[in-house]
Amino acid sequence: MSTTTAKKTADHSAWIAKRIHSFVGIVPLGVYLVLHLSRNLSTLLGPEAFDSAVAATWQQPINYVWTILLVYLPLIYHTVYGIKLAASGEKKSIKNYWNLENARFVLQRLSALGLLGFLGAHIFLTRVHTTMNWVEGGKITYGYFAEHMWNNPVTAVTYLFGILAAAFHLGNGVGTFCISWGIATGKRGIEIAEKVALGFGLFLLILGYAAVLGFFLYDYTPTAITGGLLTKDGVIEGIFHQLHGITPAGILEMFQGK
Ligand code: HEM
Repeated sequence: MSTTTAKKTADHSAWIAKRIHSFVGIVPLGVYLVLHLSRNLSTLLGPEAFDSAVAATWQQPINYVWTILLVYLPLIYHTVYGIKLAASGEKKSIKNYWNLENARFVLQRLSALGLLGFLGAHIFLTRVHTTMNWVEGGKITYGYFAEHMWNNPVTAVTYLFGILAAAFHLGNGVGTFCISWGIATGKRGIEIAEKVALGFGLFLLILGYAAVLGFFLYDYTPTAITGGLLTKDGVIEGIFHQLHGITPAGILEMFQGK
Protein backbone atom coordinates (compact mmCIF):
# COMPACT_ATOMS: atom_id res chain seq x y z
CA MET A 1 0.00 0.00 0.00
CA SER A 2 1.41 3.41 -0.96
CA THR A 3 1.86 6.08 1.71
CA THR A 4 -0.93 8.20 0.18
CA THR A 5 -3.40 5.27 0.20
CA ALA A 6 -2.44 4.37 3.79
CA LYS A 7 -3.02 8.00 4.85
CA LYS A 8 -6.40 8.10 3.07
CA THR A 9 -7.48 4.85 4.81
CA ALA A 10 -6.38 6.22 8.22
CA ASP A 11 -8.23 9.50 7.59
CA HIS A 12 -11.35 7.61 6.56
CA SER A 13 -11.21 5.37 9.71
CA ALA A 14 -10.73 8.45 11.90
CA TRP A 15 -13.71 10.13 10.17
CA ILE A 16 -15.92 7.07 10.82
CA ALA A 17 -14.75 6.78 14.46
CA LYS A 18 -15.62 10.47 14.98
CA ARG A 19 -19.09 10.00 13.46
CA ILE A 20 -19.76 7.01 15.73
CA HIS A 21 -18.58 9.06 18.73
CA SER A 22 -21.00 11.87 17.87
CA PHE A 23 -23.87 9.49 17.01
CA VAL A 24 -23.72 7.41 20.22
CA GLY A 25 -23.54 10.59 22.27
CA ILE A 26 -26.96 11.60 20.95
CA VAL A 27 -28.88 8.45 20.13
CA PRO A 28 -28.49 5.88 22.85
CA LEU A 29 -26.93 8.15 25.51
CA GLY A 30 -28.95 11.34 24.97
CA VAL A 31 -32.20 9.41 24.66
CA TYR A 32 -31.33 7.42 27.80
CA LEU A 33 -30.69 10.61 29.79
CA VAL A 34 -34.05 12.14 28.79
CA LEU A 35 -35.88 8.91 29.77
CA HIS A 36 -33.83 8.51 32.96
CA LEU A 37 -34.47 12.07 34.18
CA SER A 38 -38.15 11.87 33.19
CA ARG A 39 -38.58 8.72 35.27
CA ASN A 40 -36.77 10.36 38.19
CA LEU A 41 -39.24 13.25 38.05
CA SER A 42 -41.52 10.84 39.93
CA THR A 43 -39.78 12.10 43.12
CA LEU A 44 -42.18 15.07 42.89
CA LEU A 45 -45.05 12.64 43.54
CA GLY A 46 -43.43 11.15 46.63
CA PRO A 47 -41.48 8.11 47.86
CA GLU A 48 -43.96 5.47 46.68
CA ALA A 49 -44.15 6.90 43.16
CA PHE A 50 -40.35 6.98 42.83
CA ASP A 51 -39.86 3.48 44.27
CA SER A 52 -42.45 1.95 41.96
CA ALA A 53 -41.04 3.82 38.93
CA VAL A 54 -37.57 2.37 39.69
CA ALA A 55 -39.03 -1.11 40.30
CA ALA A 56 -40.93 -0.91 36.99
CA THR A 57 -37.65 -0.21 35.14
CA TRP A 58 -36.23 -3.53 36.33
CA GLN A 59 -39.37 -5.68 36.12
CA GLN A 60 -38.20 -7.15 32.82
CA PRO A 61 -34.77 -8.82 33.30
CA ILE A 62 -34.01 -8.16 29.60
CA ASN A 63 -33.60 -4.48 30.56
CA TYR A 64 -30.25 -5.35 32.16
CA VAL A 65 -29.06 -6.54 28.74
CA TRP A 66 -30.38 -3.38 27.01
CA THR A 67 -28.64 -1.26 29.65
CA ILE A 68 -25.30 -2.93 28.93
CA LEU A 69 -25.75 -2.67 25.14
CA LEU A 70 -27.33 0.79 24.95
CA VAL A 71 -25.80 2.57 27.95
CA TYR A 72 -22.54 1.04 29.21
CA LEU A 73 -20.93 0.10 25.85
CA PRO A 74 -21.74 3.44 24.14
CA LEU A 75 -20.67 5.28 27.32
CA ILE A 76 -17.29 3.51 27.36
CA TYR A 77 -16.74 4.20 23.63
CA HIS A 78 -17.86 7.84 23.89
CA THR A 79 -15.60 8.43 26.92
CA VAL A 80 -12.48 6.69 25.61
CA TYR A 81 -12.70 8.23 22.11
CA GLY A 82 -13.64 11.63 23.61
CA ILE A 83 -10.47 11.60 25.74
CA LYS A 84 -8.44 10.65 22.63
CA LEU A 85 -10.01 13.51 20.64
CA ALA A 86 -9.45 16.04 23.41
CA ALA A 87 -5.83 14.97 23.86
CA SER A 88 -4.78 14.71 20.23
CA GLY A 89 -7.51 16.26 18.09
CA GLU A 90 -7.98 19.71 16.61
CA LYS A 91 -6.99 22.44 19.00
CA LYS A 92 -8.42 25.90 18.85
CA SER A 93 -6.41 28.99 19.49
CA ILE A 94 -8.27 30.46 22.41
CA LYS A 95 -5.33 32.43 23.71
CA ASN A 96 -5.69 35.50 21.54
CA TYR A 97 -9.41 36.07 21.48
CA TRP A 98 -12.43 35.01 23.48
CA ASN A 99 -15.76 34.47 21.80
CA LEU A 100 -18.85 32.36 22.36
CA GLU A 101 -17.68 29.57 20.06
CA ASN A 102 -14.36 29.21 21.90
CA ALA A 103 -16.07 29.37 25.28
CA ARG A 104 -18.41 26.55 24.23
CA PHE A 105 -15.45 24.50 22.94
CA VAL A 106 -13.70 24.76 26.31
CA LEU A 107 -16.89 24.23 28.35
CA GLN A 108 -17.75 21.11 26.31
CA ARG A 109 -14.47 19.56 27.50
CA LEU A 110 -14.76 20.82 31.09
CA SER A 111 -18.35 19.54 31.37
CA ALA A 112 -17.17 16.15 30.05
CA LEU A 113 -14.62 15.99 32.88
CA GLY A 114 -17.22 16.96 35.49
CA LEU A 115 -19.68 14.46 34.08
CA LEU A 116 -17.08 11.71 34.23
CA GLY A 117 -16.51 12.35 37.95
CA PHE A 118 -20.23 12.60 38.63
CA LEU A 119 -21.04 9.39 36.74
CA GLY A 120 -18.29 7.51 38.58
CA ALA A 121 -19.83 8.48 41.94
CA HIS A 122 -23.44 8.05 40.76
CA ILE A 123 -22.97 4.59 39.21
CA PHE A 124 -21.00 3.53 42.29
CA LEU A 125 -23.77 4.67 44.67
CA THR A 126 -26.56 3.07 42.60
CA ARG A 127 -25.53 0.15 40.39
CA VAL A 128 -22.43 -0.99 42.33
CA HIS A 129 -24.25 -0.74 45.69
CA THR A 130 -27.23 -2.81 44.49
CA THR A 131 -25.07 -5.38 42.65
CA MET A 132 -22.85 -5.86 45.71
CA ASN A 133 -25.91 -5.95 48.00
CA TRP A 134 -24.48 -3.08 50.02
CA VAL A 135 -27.88 -1.48 50.50
CA GLU A 136 -30.83 -2.55 52.65
CA GLY A 137 -33.35 -4.59 50.58
CA GLY A 138 -30.93 -4.61 47.63
CA LYS A 139 -32.79 -1.68 46.03
CA ILE A 140 -32.20 2.01 45.48
CA THR A 141 -35.15 3.87 46.98
CA TYR A 142 -36.40 7.41 47.61
CA GLY A 143 -35.29 6.93 51.23
CA TYR A 144 -31.76 6.08 50.09
CA PHE A 145 -31.34 9.27 48.02
CA ALA A 146 -33.26 11.54 50.44
CA GLU A 147 -31.16 10.35 53.38
CA HIS A 148 -27.97 11.18 51.47
CA MET A 149 -29.23 14.51 50.14
CA TRP A 150 -30.32 15.67 53.62
CA ASN A 151 -27.36 14.39 55.59
CA ASN A 152 -24.43 14.81 53.23
CA PRO A 153 -24.16 18.35 51.89
CA VAL A 154 -21.66 16.97 49.37
CA THR A 155 -24.28 14.68 47.80
CA ALA A 156 -26.88 17.33 46.91
CA VAL A 157 -24.17 19.69 45.59
CA THR A 158 -22.61 16.86 43.54
CA TYR A 159 -26.01 16.12 41.99
CA LEU A 160 -26.63 19.79 41.17
CA PHE A 161 -23.22 20.12 39.46
CA GLY A 162 -23.52 16.70 37.77
CA ILE A 163 -26.89 17.61 36.25
CA LEU A 164 -25.56 21.02 35.16
CA ALA A 165 -22.59 19.34 33.44
CA ALA A 166 -24.89 16.77 31.77
CA ALA A 167 -27.35 19.45 30.58
CA PHE A 168 -24.56 21.58 29.08
CA HIS A 169 -22.69 18.65 27.53
CA LEU A 170 -25.75 17.14 25.88
CA GLY A 171 -27.43 20.45 24.98
CA ASN A 172 -24.29 21.82 23.32
CA GLY A 173 -23.65 18.35 21.84
CA VAL A 174 -27.02 18.45 20.07
CA GLY A 175 -26.06 21.81 18.52
CA THR A 176 -22.67 20.61 17.23
CA PHE A 177 -24.28 17.32 16.08
CA CYS A 178 -26.77 19.23 13.88
CA ILE A 179 -23.95 21.29 12.37
CA SER A 180 -21.39 18.49 11.85
CA TRP A 181 -23.98 16.09 10.35
CA GLY A 182 -25.13 18.78 7.89
CA ILE A 183 -28.64 19.00 9.42
CA ALA A 184 -28.11 22.71 10.11
CA THR A 185 -26.39 24.58 7.28
CA GLY A 186 -25.76 28.21 6.47
CA LYS A 187 -25.83 31.15 8.89
CA ARG A 188 -29.56 30.81 9.60
CA GLY A 189 -29.34 27.01 10.10
CA ILE A 190 -26.50 27.43 12.60
CA GLU A 191 -28.44 30.10 14.50
CA ILE A 192 -31.43 27.75 14.77
CA ALA A 193 -29.18 24.85 15.91
CA GLU A 194 -27.73 27.09 18.65
CA LYS A 195 -31.21 28.03 19.88
CA VAL A 196 -32.31 24.37 19.85
CA ALA A 197 -29.15 23.48 21.84
CA LEU A 198 -29.85 26.17 24.45
CA GLY A 199 -33.53 25.21 24.75
CA PHE A 200 -32.72 21.51 25.07
CA GLY A 201 -30.00 22.16 27.66
CA LEU A 202 -32.41 24.26 29.77
CA PHE A 203 -35.07 21.55 29.44
CA LEU A 204 -32.65 18.90 30.80
CA LEU A 205 -31.55 21.22 33.61
CA ILE A 206 -35.15 21.81 34.75
CA LEU A 207 -35.94 18.09 34.50
CA GLY A 208 -32.92 17.09 36.60
CA TYR A 209 -33.26 19.88 39.20
CA ALA A 210 -36.97 19.14 39.64
CA ALA A 211 -36.07 15.48 40.35
CA VAL A 212 -33.55 16.57 43.02
CA LEU A 213 -36.06 19.01 44.52
CA GLY A 214 -38.49 16.07 44.90
CA PHE A 215 -36.15 14.49 47.48
CA PHE A 216 -36.66 17.50 49.76
CA LEU A 217 -40.46 17.56 49.68
CA TYR A 218 -41.62 14.47 51.57
CA ASP A 219 -41.02 12.55 54.78
CA TYR A 220 -39.19 9.33 54.12
CA THR A 221 -38.01 6.12 55.74
CA PRO A 222 -34.21 6.01 55.40
CA THR A 223 -32.75 3.05 53.53
CA ALA A 224 -29.56 1.96 55.25
CA ILE A 225 -26.26 1.23 53.59
CA THR A 226 -25.10 -2.14 54.86
CA GLY A 227 -21.67 -2.49 53.28
CA GLY A 228 -18.96 -1.06 51.05
CA LEU A 229 -16.98 2.15 51.37
CA LEU A 230 -19.90 4.06 52.81
CA THR A 231 -20.45 2.06 55.98
CA LYS A 232 -19.88 3.86 59.27
CA ASP A 233 -16.34 2.53 59.52
CA GLY A 234 -15.65 3.05 55.83
CA VAL A 235 -13.31 5.68 54.44
CA ILE A 236 -15.77 7.97 52.64
CA GLU A 237 -18.45 7.86 55.33
CA GLY A 238 -15.72 8.73 57.84
CA ILE A 239 -15.01 11.93 55.91
CA PHE A 240 -18.73 12.76 55.61
CA HIS A 241 -19.05 12.19 59.34
CA GLN A 242 -16.61 15.02 59.91
CA LEU A 243 -18.88 17.27 57.82
CA HIS A 244 -22.01 16.10 59.58
CA GLY A 245 -22.79 19.42 61.25
CA ILE A 246 -23.15 21.11 57.84
CA THR A 247 -26.50 19.60 56.84
CA PRO A 248 -29.47 21.47 55.28
CA ALA A 249 -31.31 20.91 58.59
CA GLY A 250 -28.28 22.27 60.52
CA ILE A 251 -28.06 25.37 58.29
CA LEU A 252 -31.81 25.99 58.72
CA GLU A 253 -31.47 25.72 62.50
CA MET A 254 -28.53 28.14 62.40
CA PHE A 255 -30.71 30.77 60.63
CA GLN A 256 -33.53 30.13 63.06
CA GLY A 257 -31.04 30.82 65.85
CA LYS A 258 -31.51 27.40 67.46
C1 HEM B 1 -31.93 13.45 40.24
C2 HEM B 1 -31.01 12.89 39.54
C3 HEM B 1 -30.85 11.41 39.34
C4 HEM B 1 -31.44 10.35 39.99
C5 HEM B 1 -32.48 10.38 41.11
C6 HEM B 1 -30.91 9.12 39.40
C7 HEM B 1 -31.27 7.83 39.76
C8 HEM B 1 -30.65 6.68 39.36
C9 HEM B 1 -30.94 5.35 39.83
C10 HEM B 1 -32.00 4.99 40.85
C11 HEM B 1 -30.09 4.49 39.20
C12 HEM B 1 -30.01 2.95 39.40
C13 HEM B 1 -30.49 2.22 38.20
C14 HEM B 1 -31.88 2.67 37.78
O1 HEM B 1 -32.86 2.29 38.42
O2 HEM B 1 -31.97 3.39 36.79
C15 HEM B 1 -29.26 5.28 38.30
C16 HEM B 1 -28.29 4.78 37.45
C17 HEM B 1 -27.66 5.51 36.47
N1 HEM B 1 -27.79 6.86 36.22
FE1 HEM B 1 -28.92 8.14 37.30
N2 HEM B 1 -30.04 9.46 38.40
C18 HEM B 1 -29.97 10.85 38.32
C19 HEM B 1 -29.19 11.60 37.45
C20 HEM B 1 -28.41 11.07 36.44
C21 HEM B 1 -27.67 11.84 35.47
C22 HEM B 1 -27.64 13.37 35.40
C23 HEM B 1 -27.04 10.93 34.64
C24 HEM B 1 -26.17 11.14 33.45
C25 HEM B 1 -25.52 12.15 33.15
C26 HEM B 1 -27.36 9.60 35.12
C27 HEM B 1 -26.90 8.44 34.56
C28 HEM B 1 -27.03 7.19 35.11
C29 HEM B 1 -26.36 6.00 34.62
C30 HEM B 1 -25.43 5.92 33.42
C31 HEM B 1 -26.75 4.95 35.48
C32 HEM B 1 -26.31 3.49 35.41
C33 HEM B 1 -27.27 2.70 34.58
C34 HEM B 1 -27.63 1.37 35.24
O3 HEM B 1 -26.73 0.62 35.64
O4 HEM B 1 -28.81 1.10 35.34
N3 HEM B 1 -28.19 9.73 36.22
N4 HEM B 1 -29.63 6.60 38.42
